[in-house]
Amino acid sequence: MKLQPLNKQLADIDVSEIRQFDESVSKIPGILKLTLGEPDFNTPEHVKQAGIEAIQENYSHYTGMVGDPELREAAQHFFKTKYDTDYAADDEILVTVGATEALATAITTISDPGDAMLVPSPIYPGYIPLLTLNHVTPIYMDTSKTNFVLTPALIEATIAAHPDAKIKGIILNYPSNPTGVTYRASEVKAIAATAAEHDLYIICDEIYSELTYGDSHVSMGSYAYDRTFVVNGLSKSHAMTGWRIGFLMGPRVLIAEAKKVHQYLVTAATTIAQRAGIEALTNGQDDAQVMKAAYAKRRDFVYQALLDMGFDVARPDGAFYLFAKIPIELGLDSRQFTQSLATEQKLALISGTAFGPGGEGYIRISYAASMADLKEAVKRLQAFIAAHKAA
Ligand SMILES: Cc1ncc(COP(=O)(O)O)c(C=O)c1O
Repeated sequence: MKLQPLNKQLADIDVSEIRQFDESVSKIPGILKLTLGEPDFNTPEHVKQAGIEAIQENYSHYTGMVGDPELREAAQHFFKTKYDTDYAADDEILVTVGATEALATAITTISDPGDAMLVPSPIYPGYIPLLTLNHVTPIYMDTSKTNFVLTPALIEATIAAHPDAKIKGIILNYPSNPTGVTYRASEVKAIAATAAEHDLYIICDEIYSELTYGDSHVSMGSYAYDRTFVVNGLSKSHAMTGWRIGFLMGPRVLIAEAKKVHQYLVTAATTIAQRAGIEALTNGQDDAQVMKAAYAKRRDFVYQALLDMGFDVARPDGAFYLFAKIPIELGLDSRQFTQSLATEQKLALISGTAFGPGGEGYIRISYAASMADLKEAVKRLQAFIAAHKAA
């Protein structure tokens, strides 16, 4: 049977290295995996209850396409109280299907074929395929020399090095997956000023905003309101990855256009999950605190263990990842390291190469796992290091 060619952009998209590696090592008996970015906590009981009640009360119809008005009100209040942003519930907050749809909608809204987007790297791998589908070229900015923090100097140098590129904006993510690095107010402010100077949009993925271990989160929305799409959601703050509730926030002129993309992609987020979301953002404003306290303990434990083993580790101030530089004396690149560790010690970590340029030489560890698993993981890692140092 002869079929016409499919979308040519798909040739440039592959299943993510994280998923591929995770699936390949899952076959190893007794493998301990610190691979995926998924909270190991369950959704808080009161939020689950609200979901159950929503079903019983027949919340089984579409909401308006921008989302349940009560949820948008709750989101306005939550993000204002927490991060001092002030997006109007009526026309500046869109309820999306997880942060992922918020990202897809934001990228599609600002992209024209032939545009380029600045992307700091190492970076969460979810953005690049969305750019590719929109015929947009990523221009990477390697942050491995600036402690994984994007600086105005790096943005300026990248723009200067690409005089012919039609650069539309910057994608930013903090607290960061994979590095755990987050940004201080002065750093956010400086990036906002640089973006304004070059007339760049900013898509700021703040999905880990409730998981900061030092100062509280500073939103790009409070420094670059006019040109920013803020992406957030309930996946990490309320351990609700499977409920698929996200938020896309921005000035009304941008959200009015994003609404069109959102409508034809998904119509609206799930009504039941939105009802549970109202409970999460009203009576569960501090639900993240318990998880955060546990993550902080785990981070401290793994961070210290890595330092003791001779790893150099980026400033881990947020999210639930550590991005560690493999000791040079082991003579292993990132993929060799993660592959050998999985087969020799049955411990799965992610190669830094899964996160783009600047990731070679690093491994990512997700510490969204029980303390018992983390202790076992450290033991296996120590054994691996000792064996390879002796070799
Ligand atoms: C940086 C980042 N953005 C977005 C997402 C996706 O979030 P959601 O599950 O809400 O779509 C993830 C998930 O791991 C992530 O790490």
